[in-house]
Amino acid sequence: MNKKQSISTLTALAVATTMAFGANSTGLKDNMPFKLGVAVSNAQINDIANGRKTQALDLIKRNFNQVVAENAMKDQPLQPIEGHFAFDAADAFVDWSNKNGMKTMGHVLLWHSQLPGWFTRGDNGKLCSREKLLDRMENHIKTVVTHFKGRVAGWDVVNEAVEGDGSYRRSDFYKILGEEFIDYAFKFAHEADPDCELWYNDYGNESAKKNETIASIVRRLKSKGMRIDGVGLQTHIRIDSPSIESYENAINLFVAEGVKVAITEMDISVLPSAWGLTAEVSTKVEYREKLNPWPDGNLPPEVDKQLGERYAEWFRMFRRHAASIDRVTVWGLSDSSSWLNDFPVPGRTDYPLLVTRDMKLKPWTKSL
Ligand code: G3I
Repeated sequence: MNKKQSISTLTALAVATTMAFGANSTGLKDNMPFKLGVAVSNAQINDIANGRKTQALDLIKRNFNQVVAENAMKDQPLQPIEGHFAFDAADAFVDWSNKNGMKTMGHVLLWHSQLPGWFTRGDNGKLCSREKLLDRMENHIKTVVTHFKGRVAGWDVVNEAVEGDGSYRRSDFYKILGEEFIDYAFKFAHEADPDCELWYNDYGNESAKKNETIASIVRRLKSKGMRIDGVGLQTHIRIDSPSIESYENAINLFVAEGVKVAITEMDISVLPSAWGLTAEVSTKVEYREKLNPWPDGNLPPEVDKQLGERYAEWFRMFRRHAASIDRVTVWGLSDSSSWLNDFPVPGRTDYPLLVTRDMKLKPWTKSL
């Protein structure tokens, strides 16, 4: 082998190695007409912050080109005590994702859950005044959006403000300010960073009534000349429901309002339903063995096949709407870290994601 040949062999080897193991190597993301995203857990962010190299972080870099923190950028972790912001973990995460060229989304500016008690209450525990809440919203949203300016592409500005029957959720925000709390949140976010994408995010989009109310929020903001870029459909679904058509209708409805859509928190539970379809985090059901049929971490092959087919069907629908879909994000990397293992029944073993408990891509992911 002459010198030139050995250099080109080395170059080919280096390219092959990068493709197999490196940040830019080929993975699921490379076969998608939209960004493929994943929610990054607190444990994974802790590894990032401590400079640890793990199999999970490698899998994320290889297979996904968009990320969002599963918990680390919610109100409670970012401002646990009024006036005391804690940005270290989120900063480590955002710097890491930027360095690796992944679209980074912020989740979430206003949500009734994981909200520190002080945010909407006075010292006496009663709801605070309208002025006080507006002041706190403005301070939190502007401080956080300004802090991450230019480092996150967009924010879920408001999460889960609408119920399945189309009414507004009676959150503290709503009780104090009415539906206009949403408008204020979008206003404060836009004032802090005019270049930032602003999204409304919710679950349960099989409900046409819920979607109508979300569409009316989009119209209201737009009629006031305000910025709203899109509607996030969380897509926490089950192996047997809801219908794909119900989500396709939702996508068509929001796109007709002139905004983009994103699939923001997808997972597919295979476990028996404890009741209806919900992502309402305050719900809990008592553990019963029959609600946890595969506790040892092995899903029967026929159920795994059914799960793969269900994912493939949904991705075929997403591909049909690729021009309107900003990203498809799964809510967690592997089955072992899914929130569904503890929701709505604590202590179950679910199989809702693309990566197995032993950190292997499920074989059917190739067909997505
Ligand atoms: O951070 C505390 C920790 O200090 C404490 O020791 C530990 C003990 O339980 O709890 C930790 O907080 C937990 C947090 O996740 C971080 O791990 C909360 O108890 C737990 O309730 C929380 O669950 C998250 C849930 O949102 C509520 O915020 C889930 O991981 C997360 O997947 C889930 O995500 C939501 C989206 O944000 C919005 N859409 C629905 C989706 C699923 O509920």
